[in-house]
Amino acid sequence: MMENDLKETFQKLLDENIEQKSIEEVLEILVQTFPNEVCFSTSFSFEDQVITDFVKNSGIKIFTLDTGRLFEETYNTWNLTRSKYNVNIKAFYPNPEELEPFIQEKGPDSFYRSVENRKTCCDIRKVHPLKRALKGNNVWITGLRAEHSAARENLSQLEWDESNQIIKYHPILFWTTEQVRDYIKQNQIPYNILHDKGFVSIGCAPCTRAIQPGEDFRAGRWWWEDASKKECGLHVHK
Ligand code: ADX
Ligand code: SF4
Repeated sequence: MMENDLKETFQKLLDENIEQKSIEEVLEILVQTFPNEVCFSTSFSFEDQVITDFVKNSGIKIFTLDTGRLFEETYNTWNLTRSKYNVNIKAFYPNPEELEPFIQEKGPDSFYRSVENRKTCCDIRKVHPLKRALKGNNVWITGLRAEHSAARENLSQLEWDESNQIIKYHPILFWTTEQVRDYIKQNQIPYNILHDKGFVSIGCAPCTRAIQPGEDFRAGRWWWEDASKKECGLHVHK
């Protein structure tokens, strides 16, 4: 679909009050409107596990960005998810032609030394593979939640992503942590056991740590950096 047509279709969906409908109904409409062009990115977080449960058997493509630096527990969750839902999750990897010279020049853990290094690492390991993953798709489903951060509080469930020229859908944007936990429990969904050890938002192992009760949701991500810089570039909010 051409970009203008896609934007028009997006506007039409909004005009039809798609956001008032249930998650199941929205997914159905999206799949019918964009056959084989709807994808969901999972990092195997609590949120993403809930969404996997919603999108199973729907024809929606599931992918993950394997940065090469994920926790062992995250790979375990990936395995358990494959078994439970019998789904194939496509993994996208960093381009070795970018990664190899970067590591050779800067070493494996250069992200601790500067924000610039950290952003380059995130670009190579996540953002560039994401661009490849989104190619050929018109809708990108994510597990973003408003509670995560101030920037995410202002999002809409269905939004136009200018930088990726794609429609984004965040089905559980307004769910509380309690709702997410209850859904996981009630439906016996496998989850990352780091969530039981004080980890809330989970990314790459060297860049994620547990948080104390009451601390900000994303306090355990890139904790050595100024709070205002803590986005990796996957989700660019204008
Ligand atoms: S991030 O921008 O800080 O890295 P966060 O961990 O909050 O993102 O996750 C928000 C959403 O981004 C997830 O629900 C998922 O849709 C997507 N996402 C984040 N990391 C990955 C990943 N490694 N692979 C696939 N999707 C991811
Ligand atoms: Fe690199 Fe850390 Fe970003 Fe992962 S989160 S891509 S290890 S800087």
